Amino acid sequence: MSAGPPRLAPSILAGDLADLRSVAALCAEGGAEFLHVDVMDGHFVPNLTFGPPVMKALGRHSEMPQDVHLMVEHPERLLDDYLEAGAARVSVHWEAVTHLDRLVARIRERGVEAGVALNPATPVESLEEILPSLDFVLIMSVNPGFAGQVFLPRSLDKVRRLRRIIAERSLDVEIAIDGGIDTGNVRQAVEAGVGLYVAGSAVFGAADPVAAMRELKKRAQAGAGVE
Ligand code: DX5
Ligand code: ZN
Repeated sequence: MSAGPPRLAPSILAGDLADLRSVAALCAEGGAEFLHVDVMDGHFVPNLTFGPPVMKALGRHSEMPQDVHLMVEHPERLLDDYLEAGAARVSVHWEAVTHLDRLVARIRERGVEAGVALNPATPVESLEEILPSLDFVLIMSVNPGFAGQVFLPRSLDKVRRLRRIIAERSLDVEIAIDGGIDTGNVRQAVEAGVGLYVAGSAVFGAADPVAAMRELKKRAQAGAGVE
């Protein structure tokens, strides 16, 4: 968990997928802390992206740590491959896993930070038992599957509720948010309790992605009171 300024993880899915090396270089230049890697299997979500071979290739060309978001059914099947491919953080979907406690333990055993992602319709209260075992929770502020969707404002209530639960139980769990984050809402997200935010089209849809990252970071820091 980060106690410091909010951290940015640009979603490479929104970048030029035929030139991921440049995408990673832009993220480094923009001051991003992680590359957000959206792994989709065409089953859990209606889209298909990339997996461990692409993560490994990225790792050879960039030192940026990877924040791997698994939108897949049965994430346990390929888990070792994701971990070996160089993930610094892995999130699995609450809706996709039966033995969540076992899976989270397997991730953490390898020294990788473990998170659980929640779809918009899944309440934060579903995490009651697993919360103390997590490094972070990823609140989905769109229905997963695609970059470029509109931010669901009620996600902010989930962030606030989760922040309250974490504080009441004196836990050390970071709240992350993913989907539709842009310069118009990042400050609110941080004020609600977000420590890490993902941004795809707000970065790579901009004419100048590096400037877009810097602007997002500036606004996020203002929300955290770090001017
Ligand atoms: C959605 C993905 C997101 C997405 C973010 O399924 O998990 O990470 O790529 O892209 P934007 O910021 O464009 O919503
Ligand atoms: Zn994602």
